[in-house]
Amino acid sequence: MDTNWTRVLSGYVNKIVSPDGRQTYESKKKLVDTLLELAELKDTDTVIDIGCGWGNFTKICSELANSVIGIEPNLENLNKAKEHTDSVNVQYVQGSFEQLNCNQKTNKIVSMLTFHQVSWKDKGKSLKNVSDILEKDGHFFLCDTMIMFNPEEKPELFDKVYRYLLKETTPDEIYTQYIEPCLNDNVTYSVADMIENTPEDNRFYFLDELYSWAKKADLKLIKTIEFCPFFGVVVLQK
Ligand SMILES: C[S@@+](CC[C@H](N)C(=O)[O-])C[C@H]1O[C@@H](n2cnc3c(N)ncnc32)[C@H](O)[C@@H]1O
Repeated sequence: MDTNWTRVLSGYVNKIVSPDGRQTYESKKKLVDTLLELAELKDTDTVIDIGCGWGNFTKICSELANSVIGIEPNLENLNKAKEHTDSVNVQYVQGSFEQLNCNQKTNKIVSMLTFHQVSWKDKGKSLKNVSDILEKDGHFFLCDTMIMFNPEEKPELFDKVYRYLLKETTPDEIYTQYIEPCLNDNVTYSVADMIENTPEDNRFYFLDELYSWAKKADLKLIKTIEFCPFFGVVVLQK
């Protein structure tokens, strides 16, 4: 596996500034293609894309599936997605993981680079919302930053990943002013350190935590694809 994480990530995502000025990511063709391959879309499928952003995935789905619903909380992003594709089989809904505003049952739901933005207390409820509109045996394809290894078995790797994610996901001025000066080169940071020093909603979640939220929502894990130790795709089935 390629250990140059910046190179790995740049194959799948673009680092960009969103219309509201925040630093964020959008999916690149390689990521869209990976999800398409996994989802095996048919021309009878209705696909729901949660956190569709500017509609990169929604657009391609509209060409392969029967219909697509893009769900997105941010109105500016929704408008940009509409500019991107106004195909008759695409519907856009202003909604979120927490409040989908959509009761359409489907067998394929996708979400890319979004679930980490759901507040910690709403993670479980959000997966329940997904489960509620997923048909029996239907699949939820979730691509996100998540820590995909057991940190107790690999403490050195956790320390490296934690330092990397802090730098890459914090706005530059906050990182240099408030975080970098507090980091100690002689410490191997643990999960307990992360929990102690990070506001709950900015915490990186672990695959095991995702399993437990998913299990309560009646979803089971059937596949994991790891692009790097903290970024990948999981496929959950109802
Ligand atoms: C990093 S962008 C990814 C957009 C798109 N999925 C892609 O792969 O290019 C994350 C998107 O999730 C949306 N988002 C943020 N919080 C959300 C939530 N709680 N539920 C659903 N979408 C959310 C953001 O507005 C943004 O458009």
